[in-house]
Amino acid sequence: MALFNLTINGKSQQVDVDPNTPMLWVLRDHLDLVGTKFGCGIAQCGACTIHLDGNAVRSCQLPVSAAEGAQVTTIEGLSENGDHPVQKAWMEHDVPQCGYCQAGQIMSAAALLAQNPTPSDTDIDNAMNGNICRCGTYTRIIAAIKTASQ
Ligand code: FES
Repeated sequence: MALFNLTINGKSQQVDVDPNTPMLWVLRDHLDLVGTKFGCGIAQCGACTIHLDGNAVRSCQLPVSAAEGAQVTTIEGLSENGDHPVQKAWMEHDVPQCGYCQAGQIMSAAALLAQNPTPSDTDIDNAMNGNICRCGTYTRIIAAIKTASQ
């Protein structure tokens, strides 16, 4: 066990955990930030996507020791009231079906648009192809990203 000083959604947090603990479990089990979901645990599905210094990363494969000193953002910290442009576009297009993968989808889309405000279809495919949706909401996800990019 070791103490780690983290900055999560702009707030300082301290956790006492094994240095190899994935951020996914630090967020969910230690900080009660359960919006970030466990899907596969092996960086294959994208359900656990968070931002590390603005970049979309898989929190199931990010050890807590690698997050110290960085700005970590989760779905809970993306906006104050769910009014991030991506979240608004998601609502406009009724994107979710079961909803399980959607926090990860939104975090990947938000990172894409922060870095590339007017992405091409190829840019969207490249940024989003690591986020799996078993309900197949891909068409609405792409439409919502296009709306948010306008
Ligand atoms: Fe992390 Fe699937 S739970 S990529």
